[in-house]
Amino acid sequence: MSGPEVDWDSLRAQAVEVMRRAHAPYSGFRVGAAGLVDDGRVVVGCNVENGAYGVTLCAECGMVSQLHASGGGRLVAVCVVDGDGAPCPPCGRCRQLLWEAGGPGCLVEAFPGQGPQPMTWVLPGAFDLDPGETPA
Ligand code: THU
Repeated sequence: MSGPEVDWDSLRAQAVEVMRRAHAPYSGFRVGAAGLVDDGRVVVGCNVENGAYGVTLCAECGMVSQLHASGGGRLVAVCVVDGDGAPCPPCGRCRQLLWEAGGPGCLVEAFPGQGPQPMTWVLPGAFDLDPGETPA
């Protein structure tokens, strides 16, 4: 099954655009994430910090929330950028989120010096309740 064509330049530009809306007054570290959905939609998210630091929302959390809020589907390609627009590796929790939202074949551009990598590279040996059928 083939998904939509990935325009990486456009996806990266949308990640940079949403990064500028990050709310990161505590760390000063802005992050933006943009994901292409299998139906052609693009969903985005930025990090949102809180004075109770532990409840900070990563950019990828916002993006996955928008995925479900706007109709579900599967992520086929994701870009994550830092405040300079450079690739920003997802934290461990977000790798797990991306795994369930995109599955093993989802491509992720978030690693300095690397092109897009499949989720099997991003999160080897992933925890997966049902490898064949993750819920929409
Ligand atoms: N951050 C993300 O948005 N995504 C990640 O995958 C890693 C970390 C944010 C959380 C926090 O607001 C800032 O980066 C510094 O940790």
